[in-house]
Amino acid sequence: MGTEEKEIFVFRYGPENDLVPRFHEYKIPLTPRMTVLDGLRMIKDDIDGTLAMRYSCRSAICGSCAMRINGNSQLACNTMIESELEKHGKLVIEPLANMNIIKDLVVDMGSFWNHIESQRPWLMPGDQNIEPMHEYPMTQKQVDKFENTPNCILCGACHAVCPAVEVDEDFPGPAALSMLYRFVIDARDDSDRTRLESTTDMGLWGCVRCYLCVDACPKDVRPGEMITNLRELASKEVKIKEPGGRHAQAFHDNIKKYGNLNELALAKDSVGKVGMLKQTLNSNLGIRMLKKGKIPPISQKPIPKIDQVKKIYEDFEENESDDE
Ligand code: FES
Repeated sequence: MGTEEKEIFVFRYGPENDLVPRFHEYKIPLTPRMTVLDGLRMIKDDIDGTLAMRYSCRSAICGSCAMRINGNSQLACNTMIESELEKHGKLVIEPLANMNIIKDLVVDMGSFWNHIESQRPWLMPGDQNIEPMHEYPMTQKQVDKFENTPNCILCGACHAVCPAVEVDEDFPGPAALSMLYRFVIDARDDSDRTRLESTTDMGLWGCVRCYLCVDACPKDVRPGEMITNLRELASKEVKIKEPGGRHAQAFHDNIKKYGNLNELALAKDSVGKVGMLKQTLNSNLGIRMLKKGKIPPISQKPIPKIDQVKKIYEDFEENESDDE
């Protein structure tokens, strides 16, 4: 029985020679357990040496072979061609999104690296007297707090699927924020407060919680969840200046104090009195709400069983401090 031939559609674009990108169809003999990277290497070695792509370890360690495979950000070296064909009935390979294309499947990762570097991803022990040549033992509990963040291989798969990165080049992205979280909770690091304070200016609250990054991560770092952890820490430890963070904080405080939500108090605490006035004048929102009788009461009273709500908060906060 002969080897079965399969088609791979590969994105091709060289900005110097091509006016527009195109997909090229290649036929390769499919062998059992063949990865997408194996297929691409076969194309490059035997069919078309001009195909540009990145790879190195071929073992899901270096992170350099991340690309879009049938629309999903994945590592080519640990994605099986057969399972992609089974799932999608086709195999379409494109470069990572959210980054400029240099050639074919190679993207410019400069913006990704800049965001990683801006988190200062190295230990800053301050004056804790850590001897450079000695071990700094950590308890298992301290190590567990890292969760899977040390497994990040910086492939950029999460950055490429992030809708917040797509619309805001200043948003650091899931990998950079996971990295930041990893150093904020590192018991050996003495700059956690400075690091947390920096989050209020960097758009931590720009994350839309779609969790596409969680699906894309080949190492189960779960960046979206780390961003949530970071937000909780920032809310507790530093004064949040950003409206998104203040909104979350105001929501929390309002429910805790009164047991239900007062939109007027929420708006005031999120954007301040001046901000509220500006929004009202700009959009006529306040006037329209007034006409429809939708303005919430100015004074807010707690609900009848507010003690029970407070108890929920107290129990939760107690559990959290037990975990620390
Ligand atoms: Fe290194 Fe795929 S080649 S992760």
